Amino acid sequence: MGNKEINKIVPVLKFENISKSFGNQLILNNLSIEIEKGDTVAIVGPSGSGKTTFLNIVGALDVADSGKVLFKNQDISSMTEKERSEFRNKNIGFVFQQHYLLPQCTVLENVLIPTLTYTNKAEKLEAAKRAEQLLDKLGMFEHRHKLPGQMSGGECQRTAFVRALINEPELILADEPTGSLDEESAAKLSSELIQLNKELNTTLIVVTHSMKLAEQMNTVLFLKQHNLTI
Ligand SMILES: Nc1ncnc2c1ncn2[C@@H]1O[C@H](COP(=O)(O)OP(=O)(O)O)[C@@H](O)[C@H]1O
Ligand SMILES: [Mg+2]
Repeated sequence: MGNKEINKIVPVLKFENISKSFGNQLILNNLSIEIEKGDTVAIVGPSGSGKTTFLNIVGALDVADSGKVLFKNQDISSMTEKERSEFRNKNIGFVFQQHYLLPQCTVLENVLIPTLTYTNKAEKLEAAKRAEQLLDKLGMFEHRHKLPGQMSGGECQRTAFVRALINEPELILADEPTGSLDEESAAKLSSELIQLNKELNTTLIVVTHSMKLAEQMNTVLFLKQHNLTI
């Protein structure tokens, strides 16, 4: 079987019987799911239900108490701290409710932060070119020399998205990405996200309170009673 065929049938992400508690508070109970490449998934559920905990385990920011997390058949649940950090940098783009841009750096500088460890000159040039292309796709090219304080919330969040995409991750994880925006900016940003996910052939998992955003995704999963259901 060729690699292409394998890519089609192996899910990007597979949770096998994942459980997680904080102290004696059960958060996730024996959760199993598969997410296919190119899919757009919304995770919805009440505050405190464990959405962020779930996303943190997907992104290898946290580890489950039991069960397996497979990223394209690679077991990330058994990785060392250092391996997980390398795995994250290479494969995952994170977007949070707050943009966490550095206030003293321009848009262009901020989006290039994940590439600062590059030592190869050709790689650096390539990244700078990719930054400009991605900024352009999100209508941010003209703002590239601005500081975060000189921009709207939506523009800052677009910048955070470009920063998440700069290393060409396979999987984008967004935790309430439109939560700090007004309704109109939120709707605009969410349709841009979905469009971008299609163009870049990535996989998108979004935690959201907004049913409007959730309804635009291929799959909507509800986090209820410590488990995910359709
Ligand atoms: N690091 C932690 N230590 C202890 N409890 C935590 C920690 N992270 C989250 N929790 C608790 O786990 C529950 C789920 O939290 P979270 O995943 O953030 O929910 P959501 O994102 O759905 O609002 C909450 O009750 C929260 O207080
Ligand atoms: Mg949360």
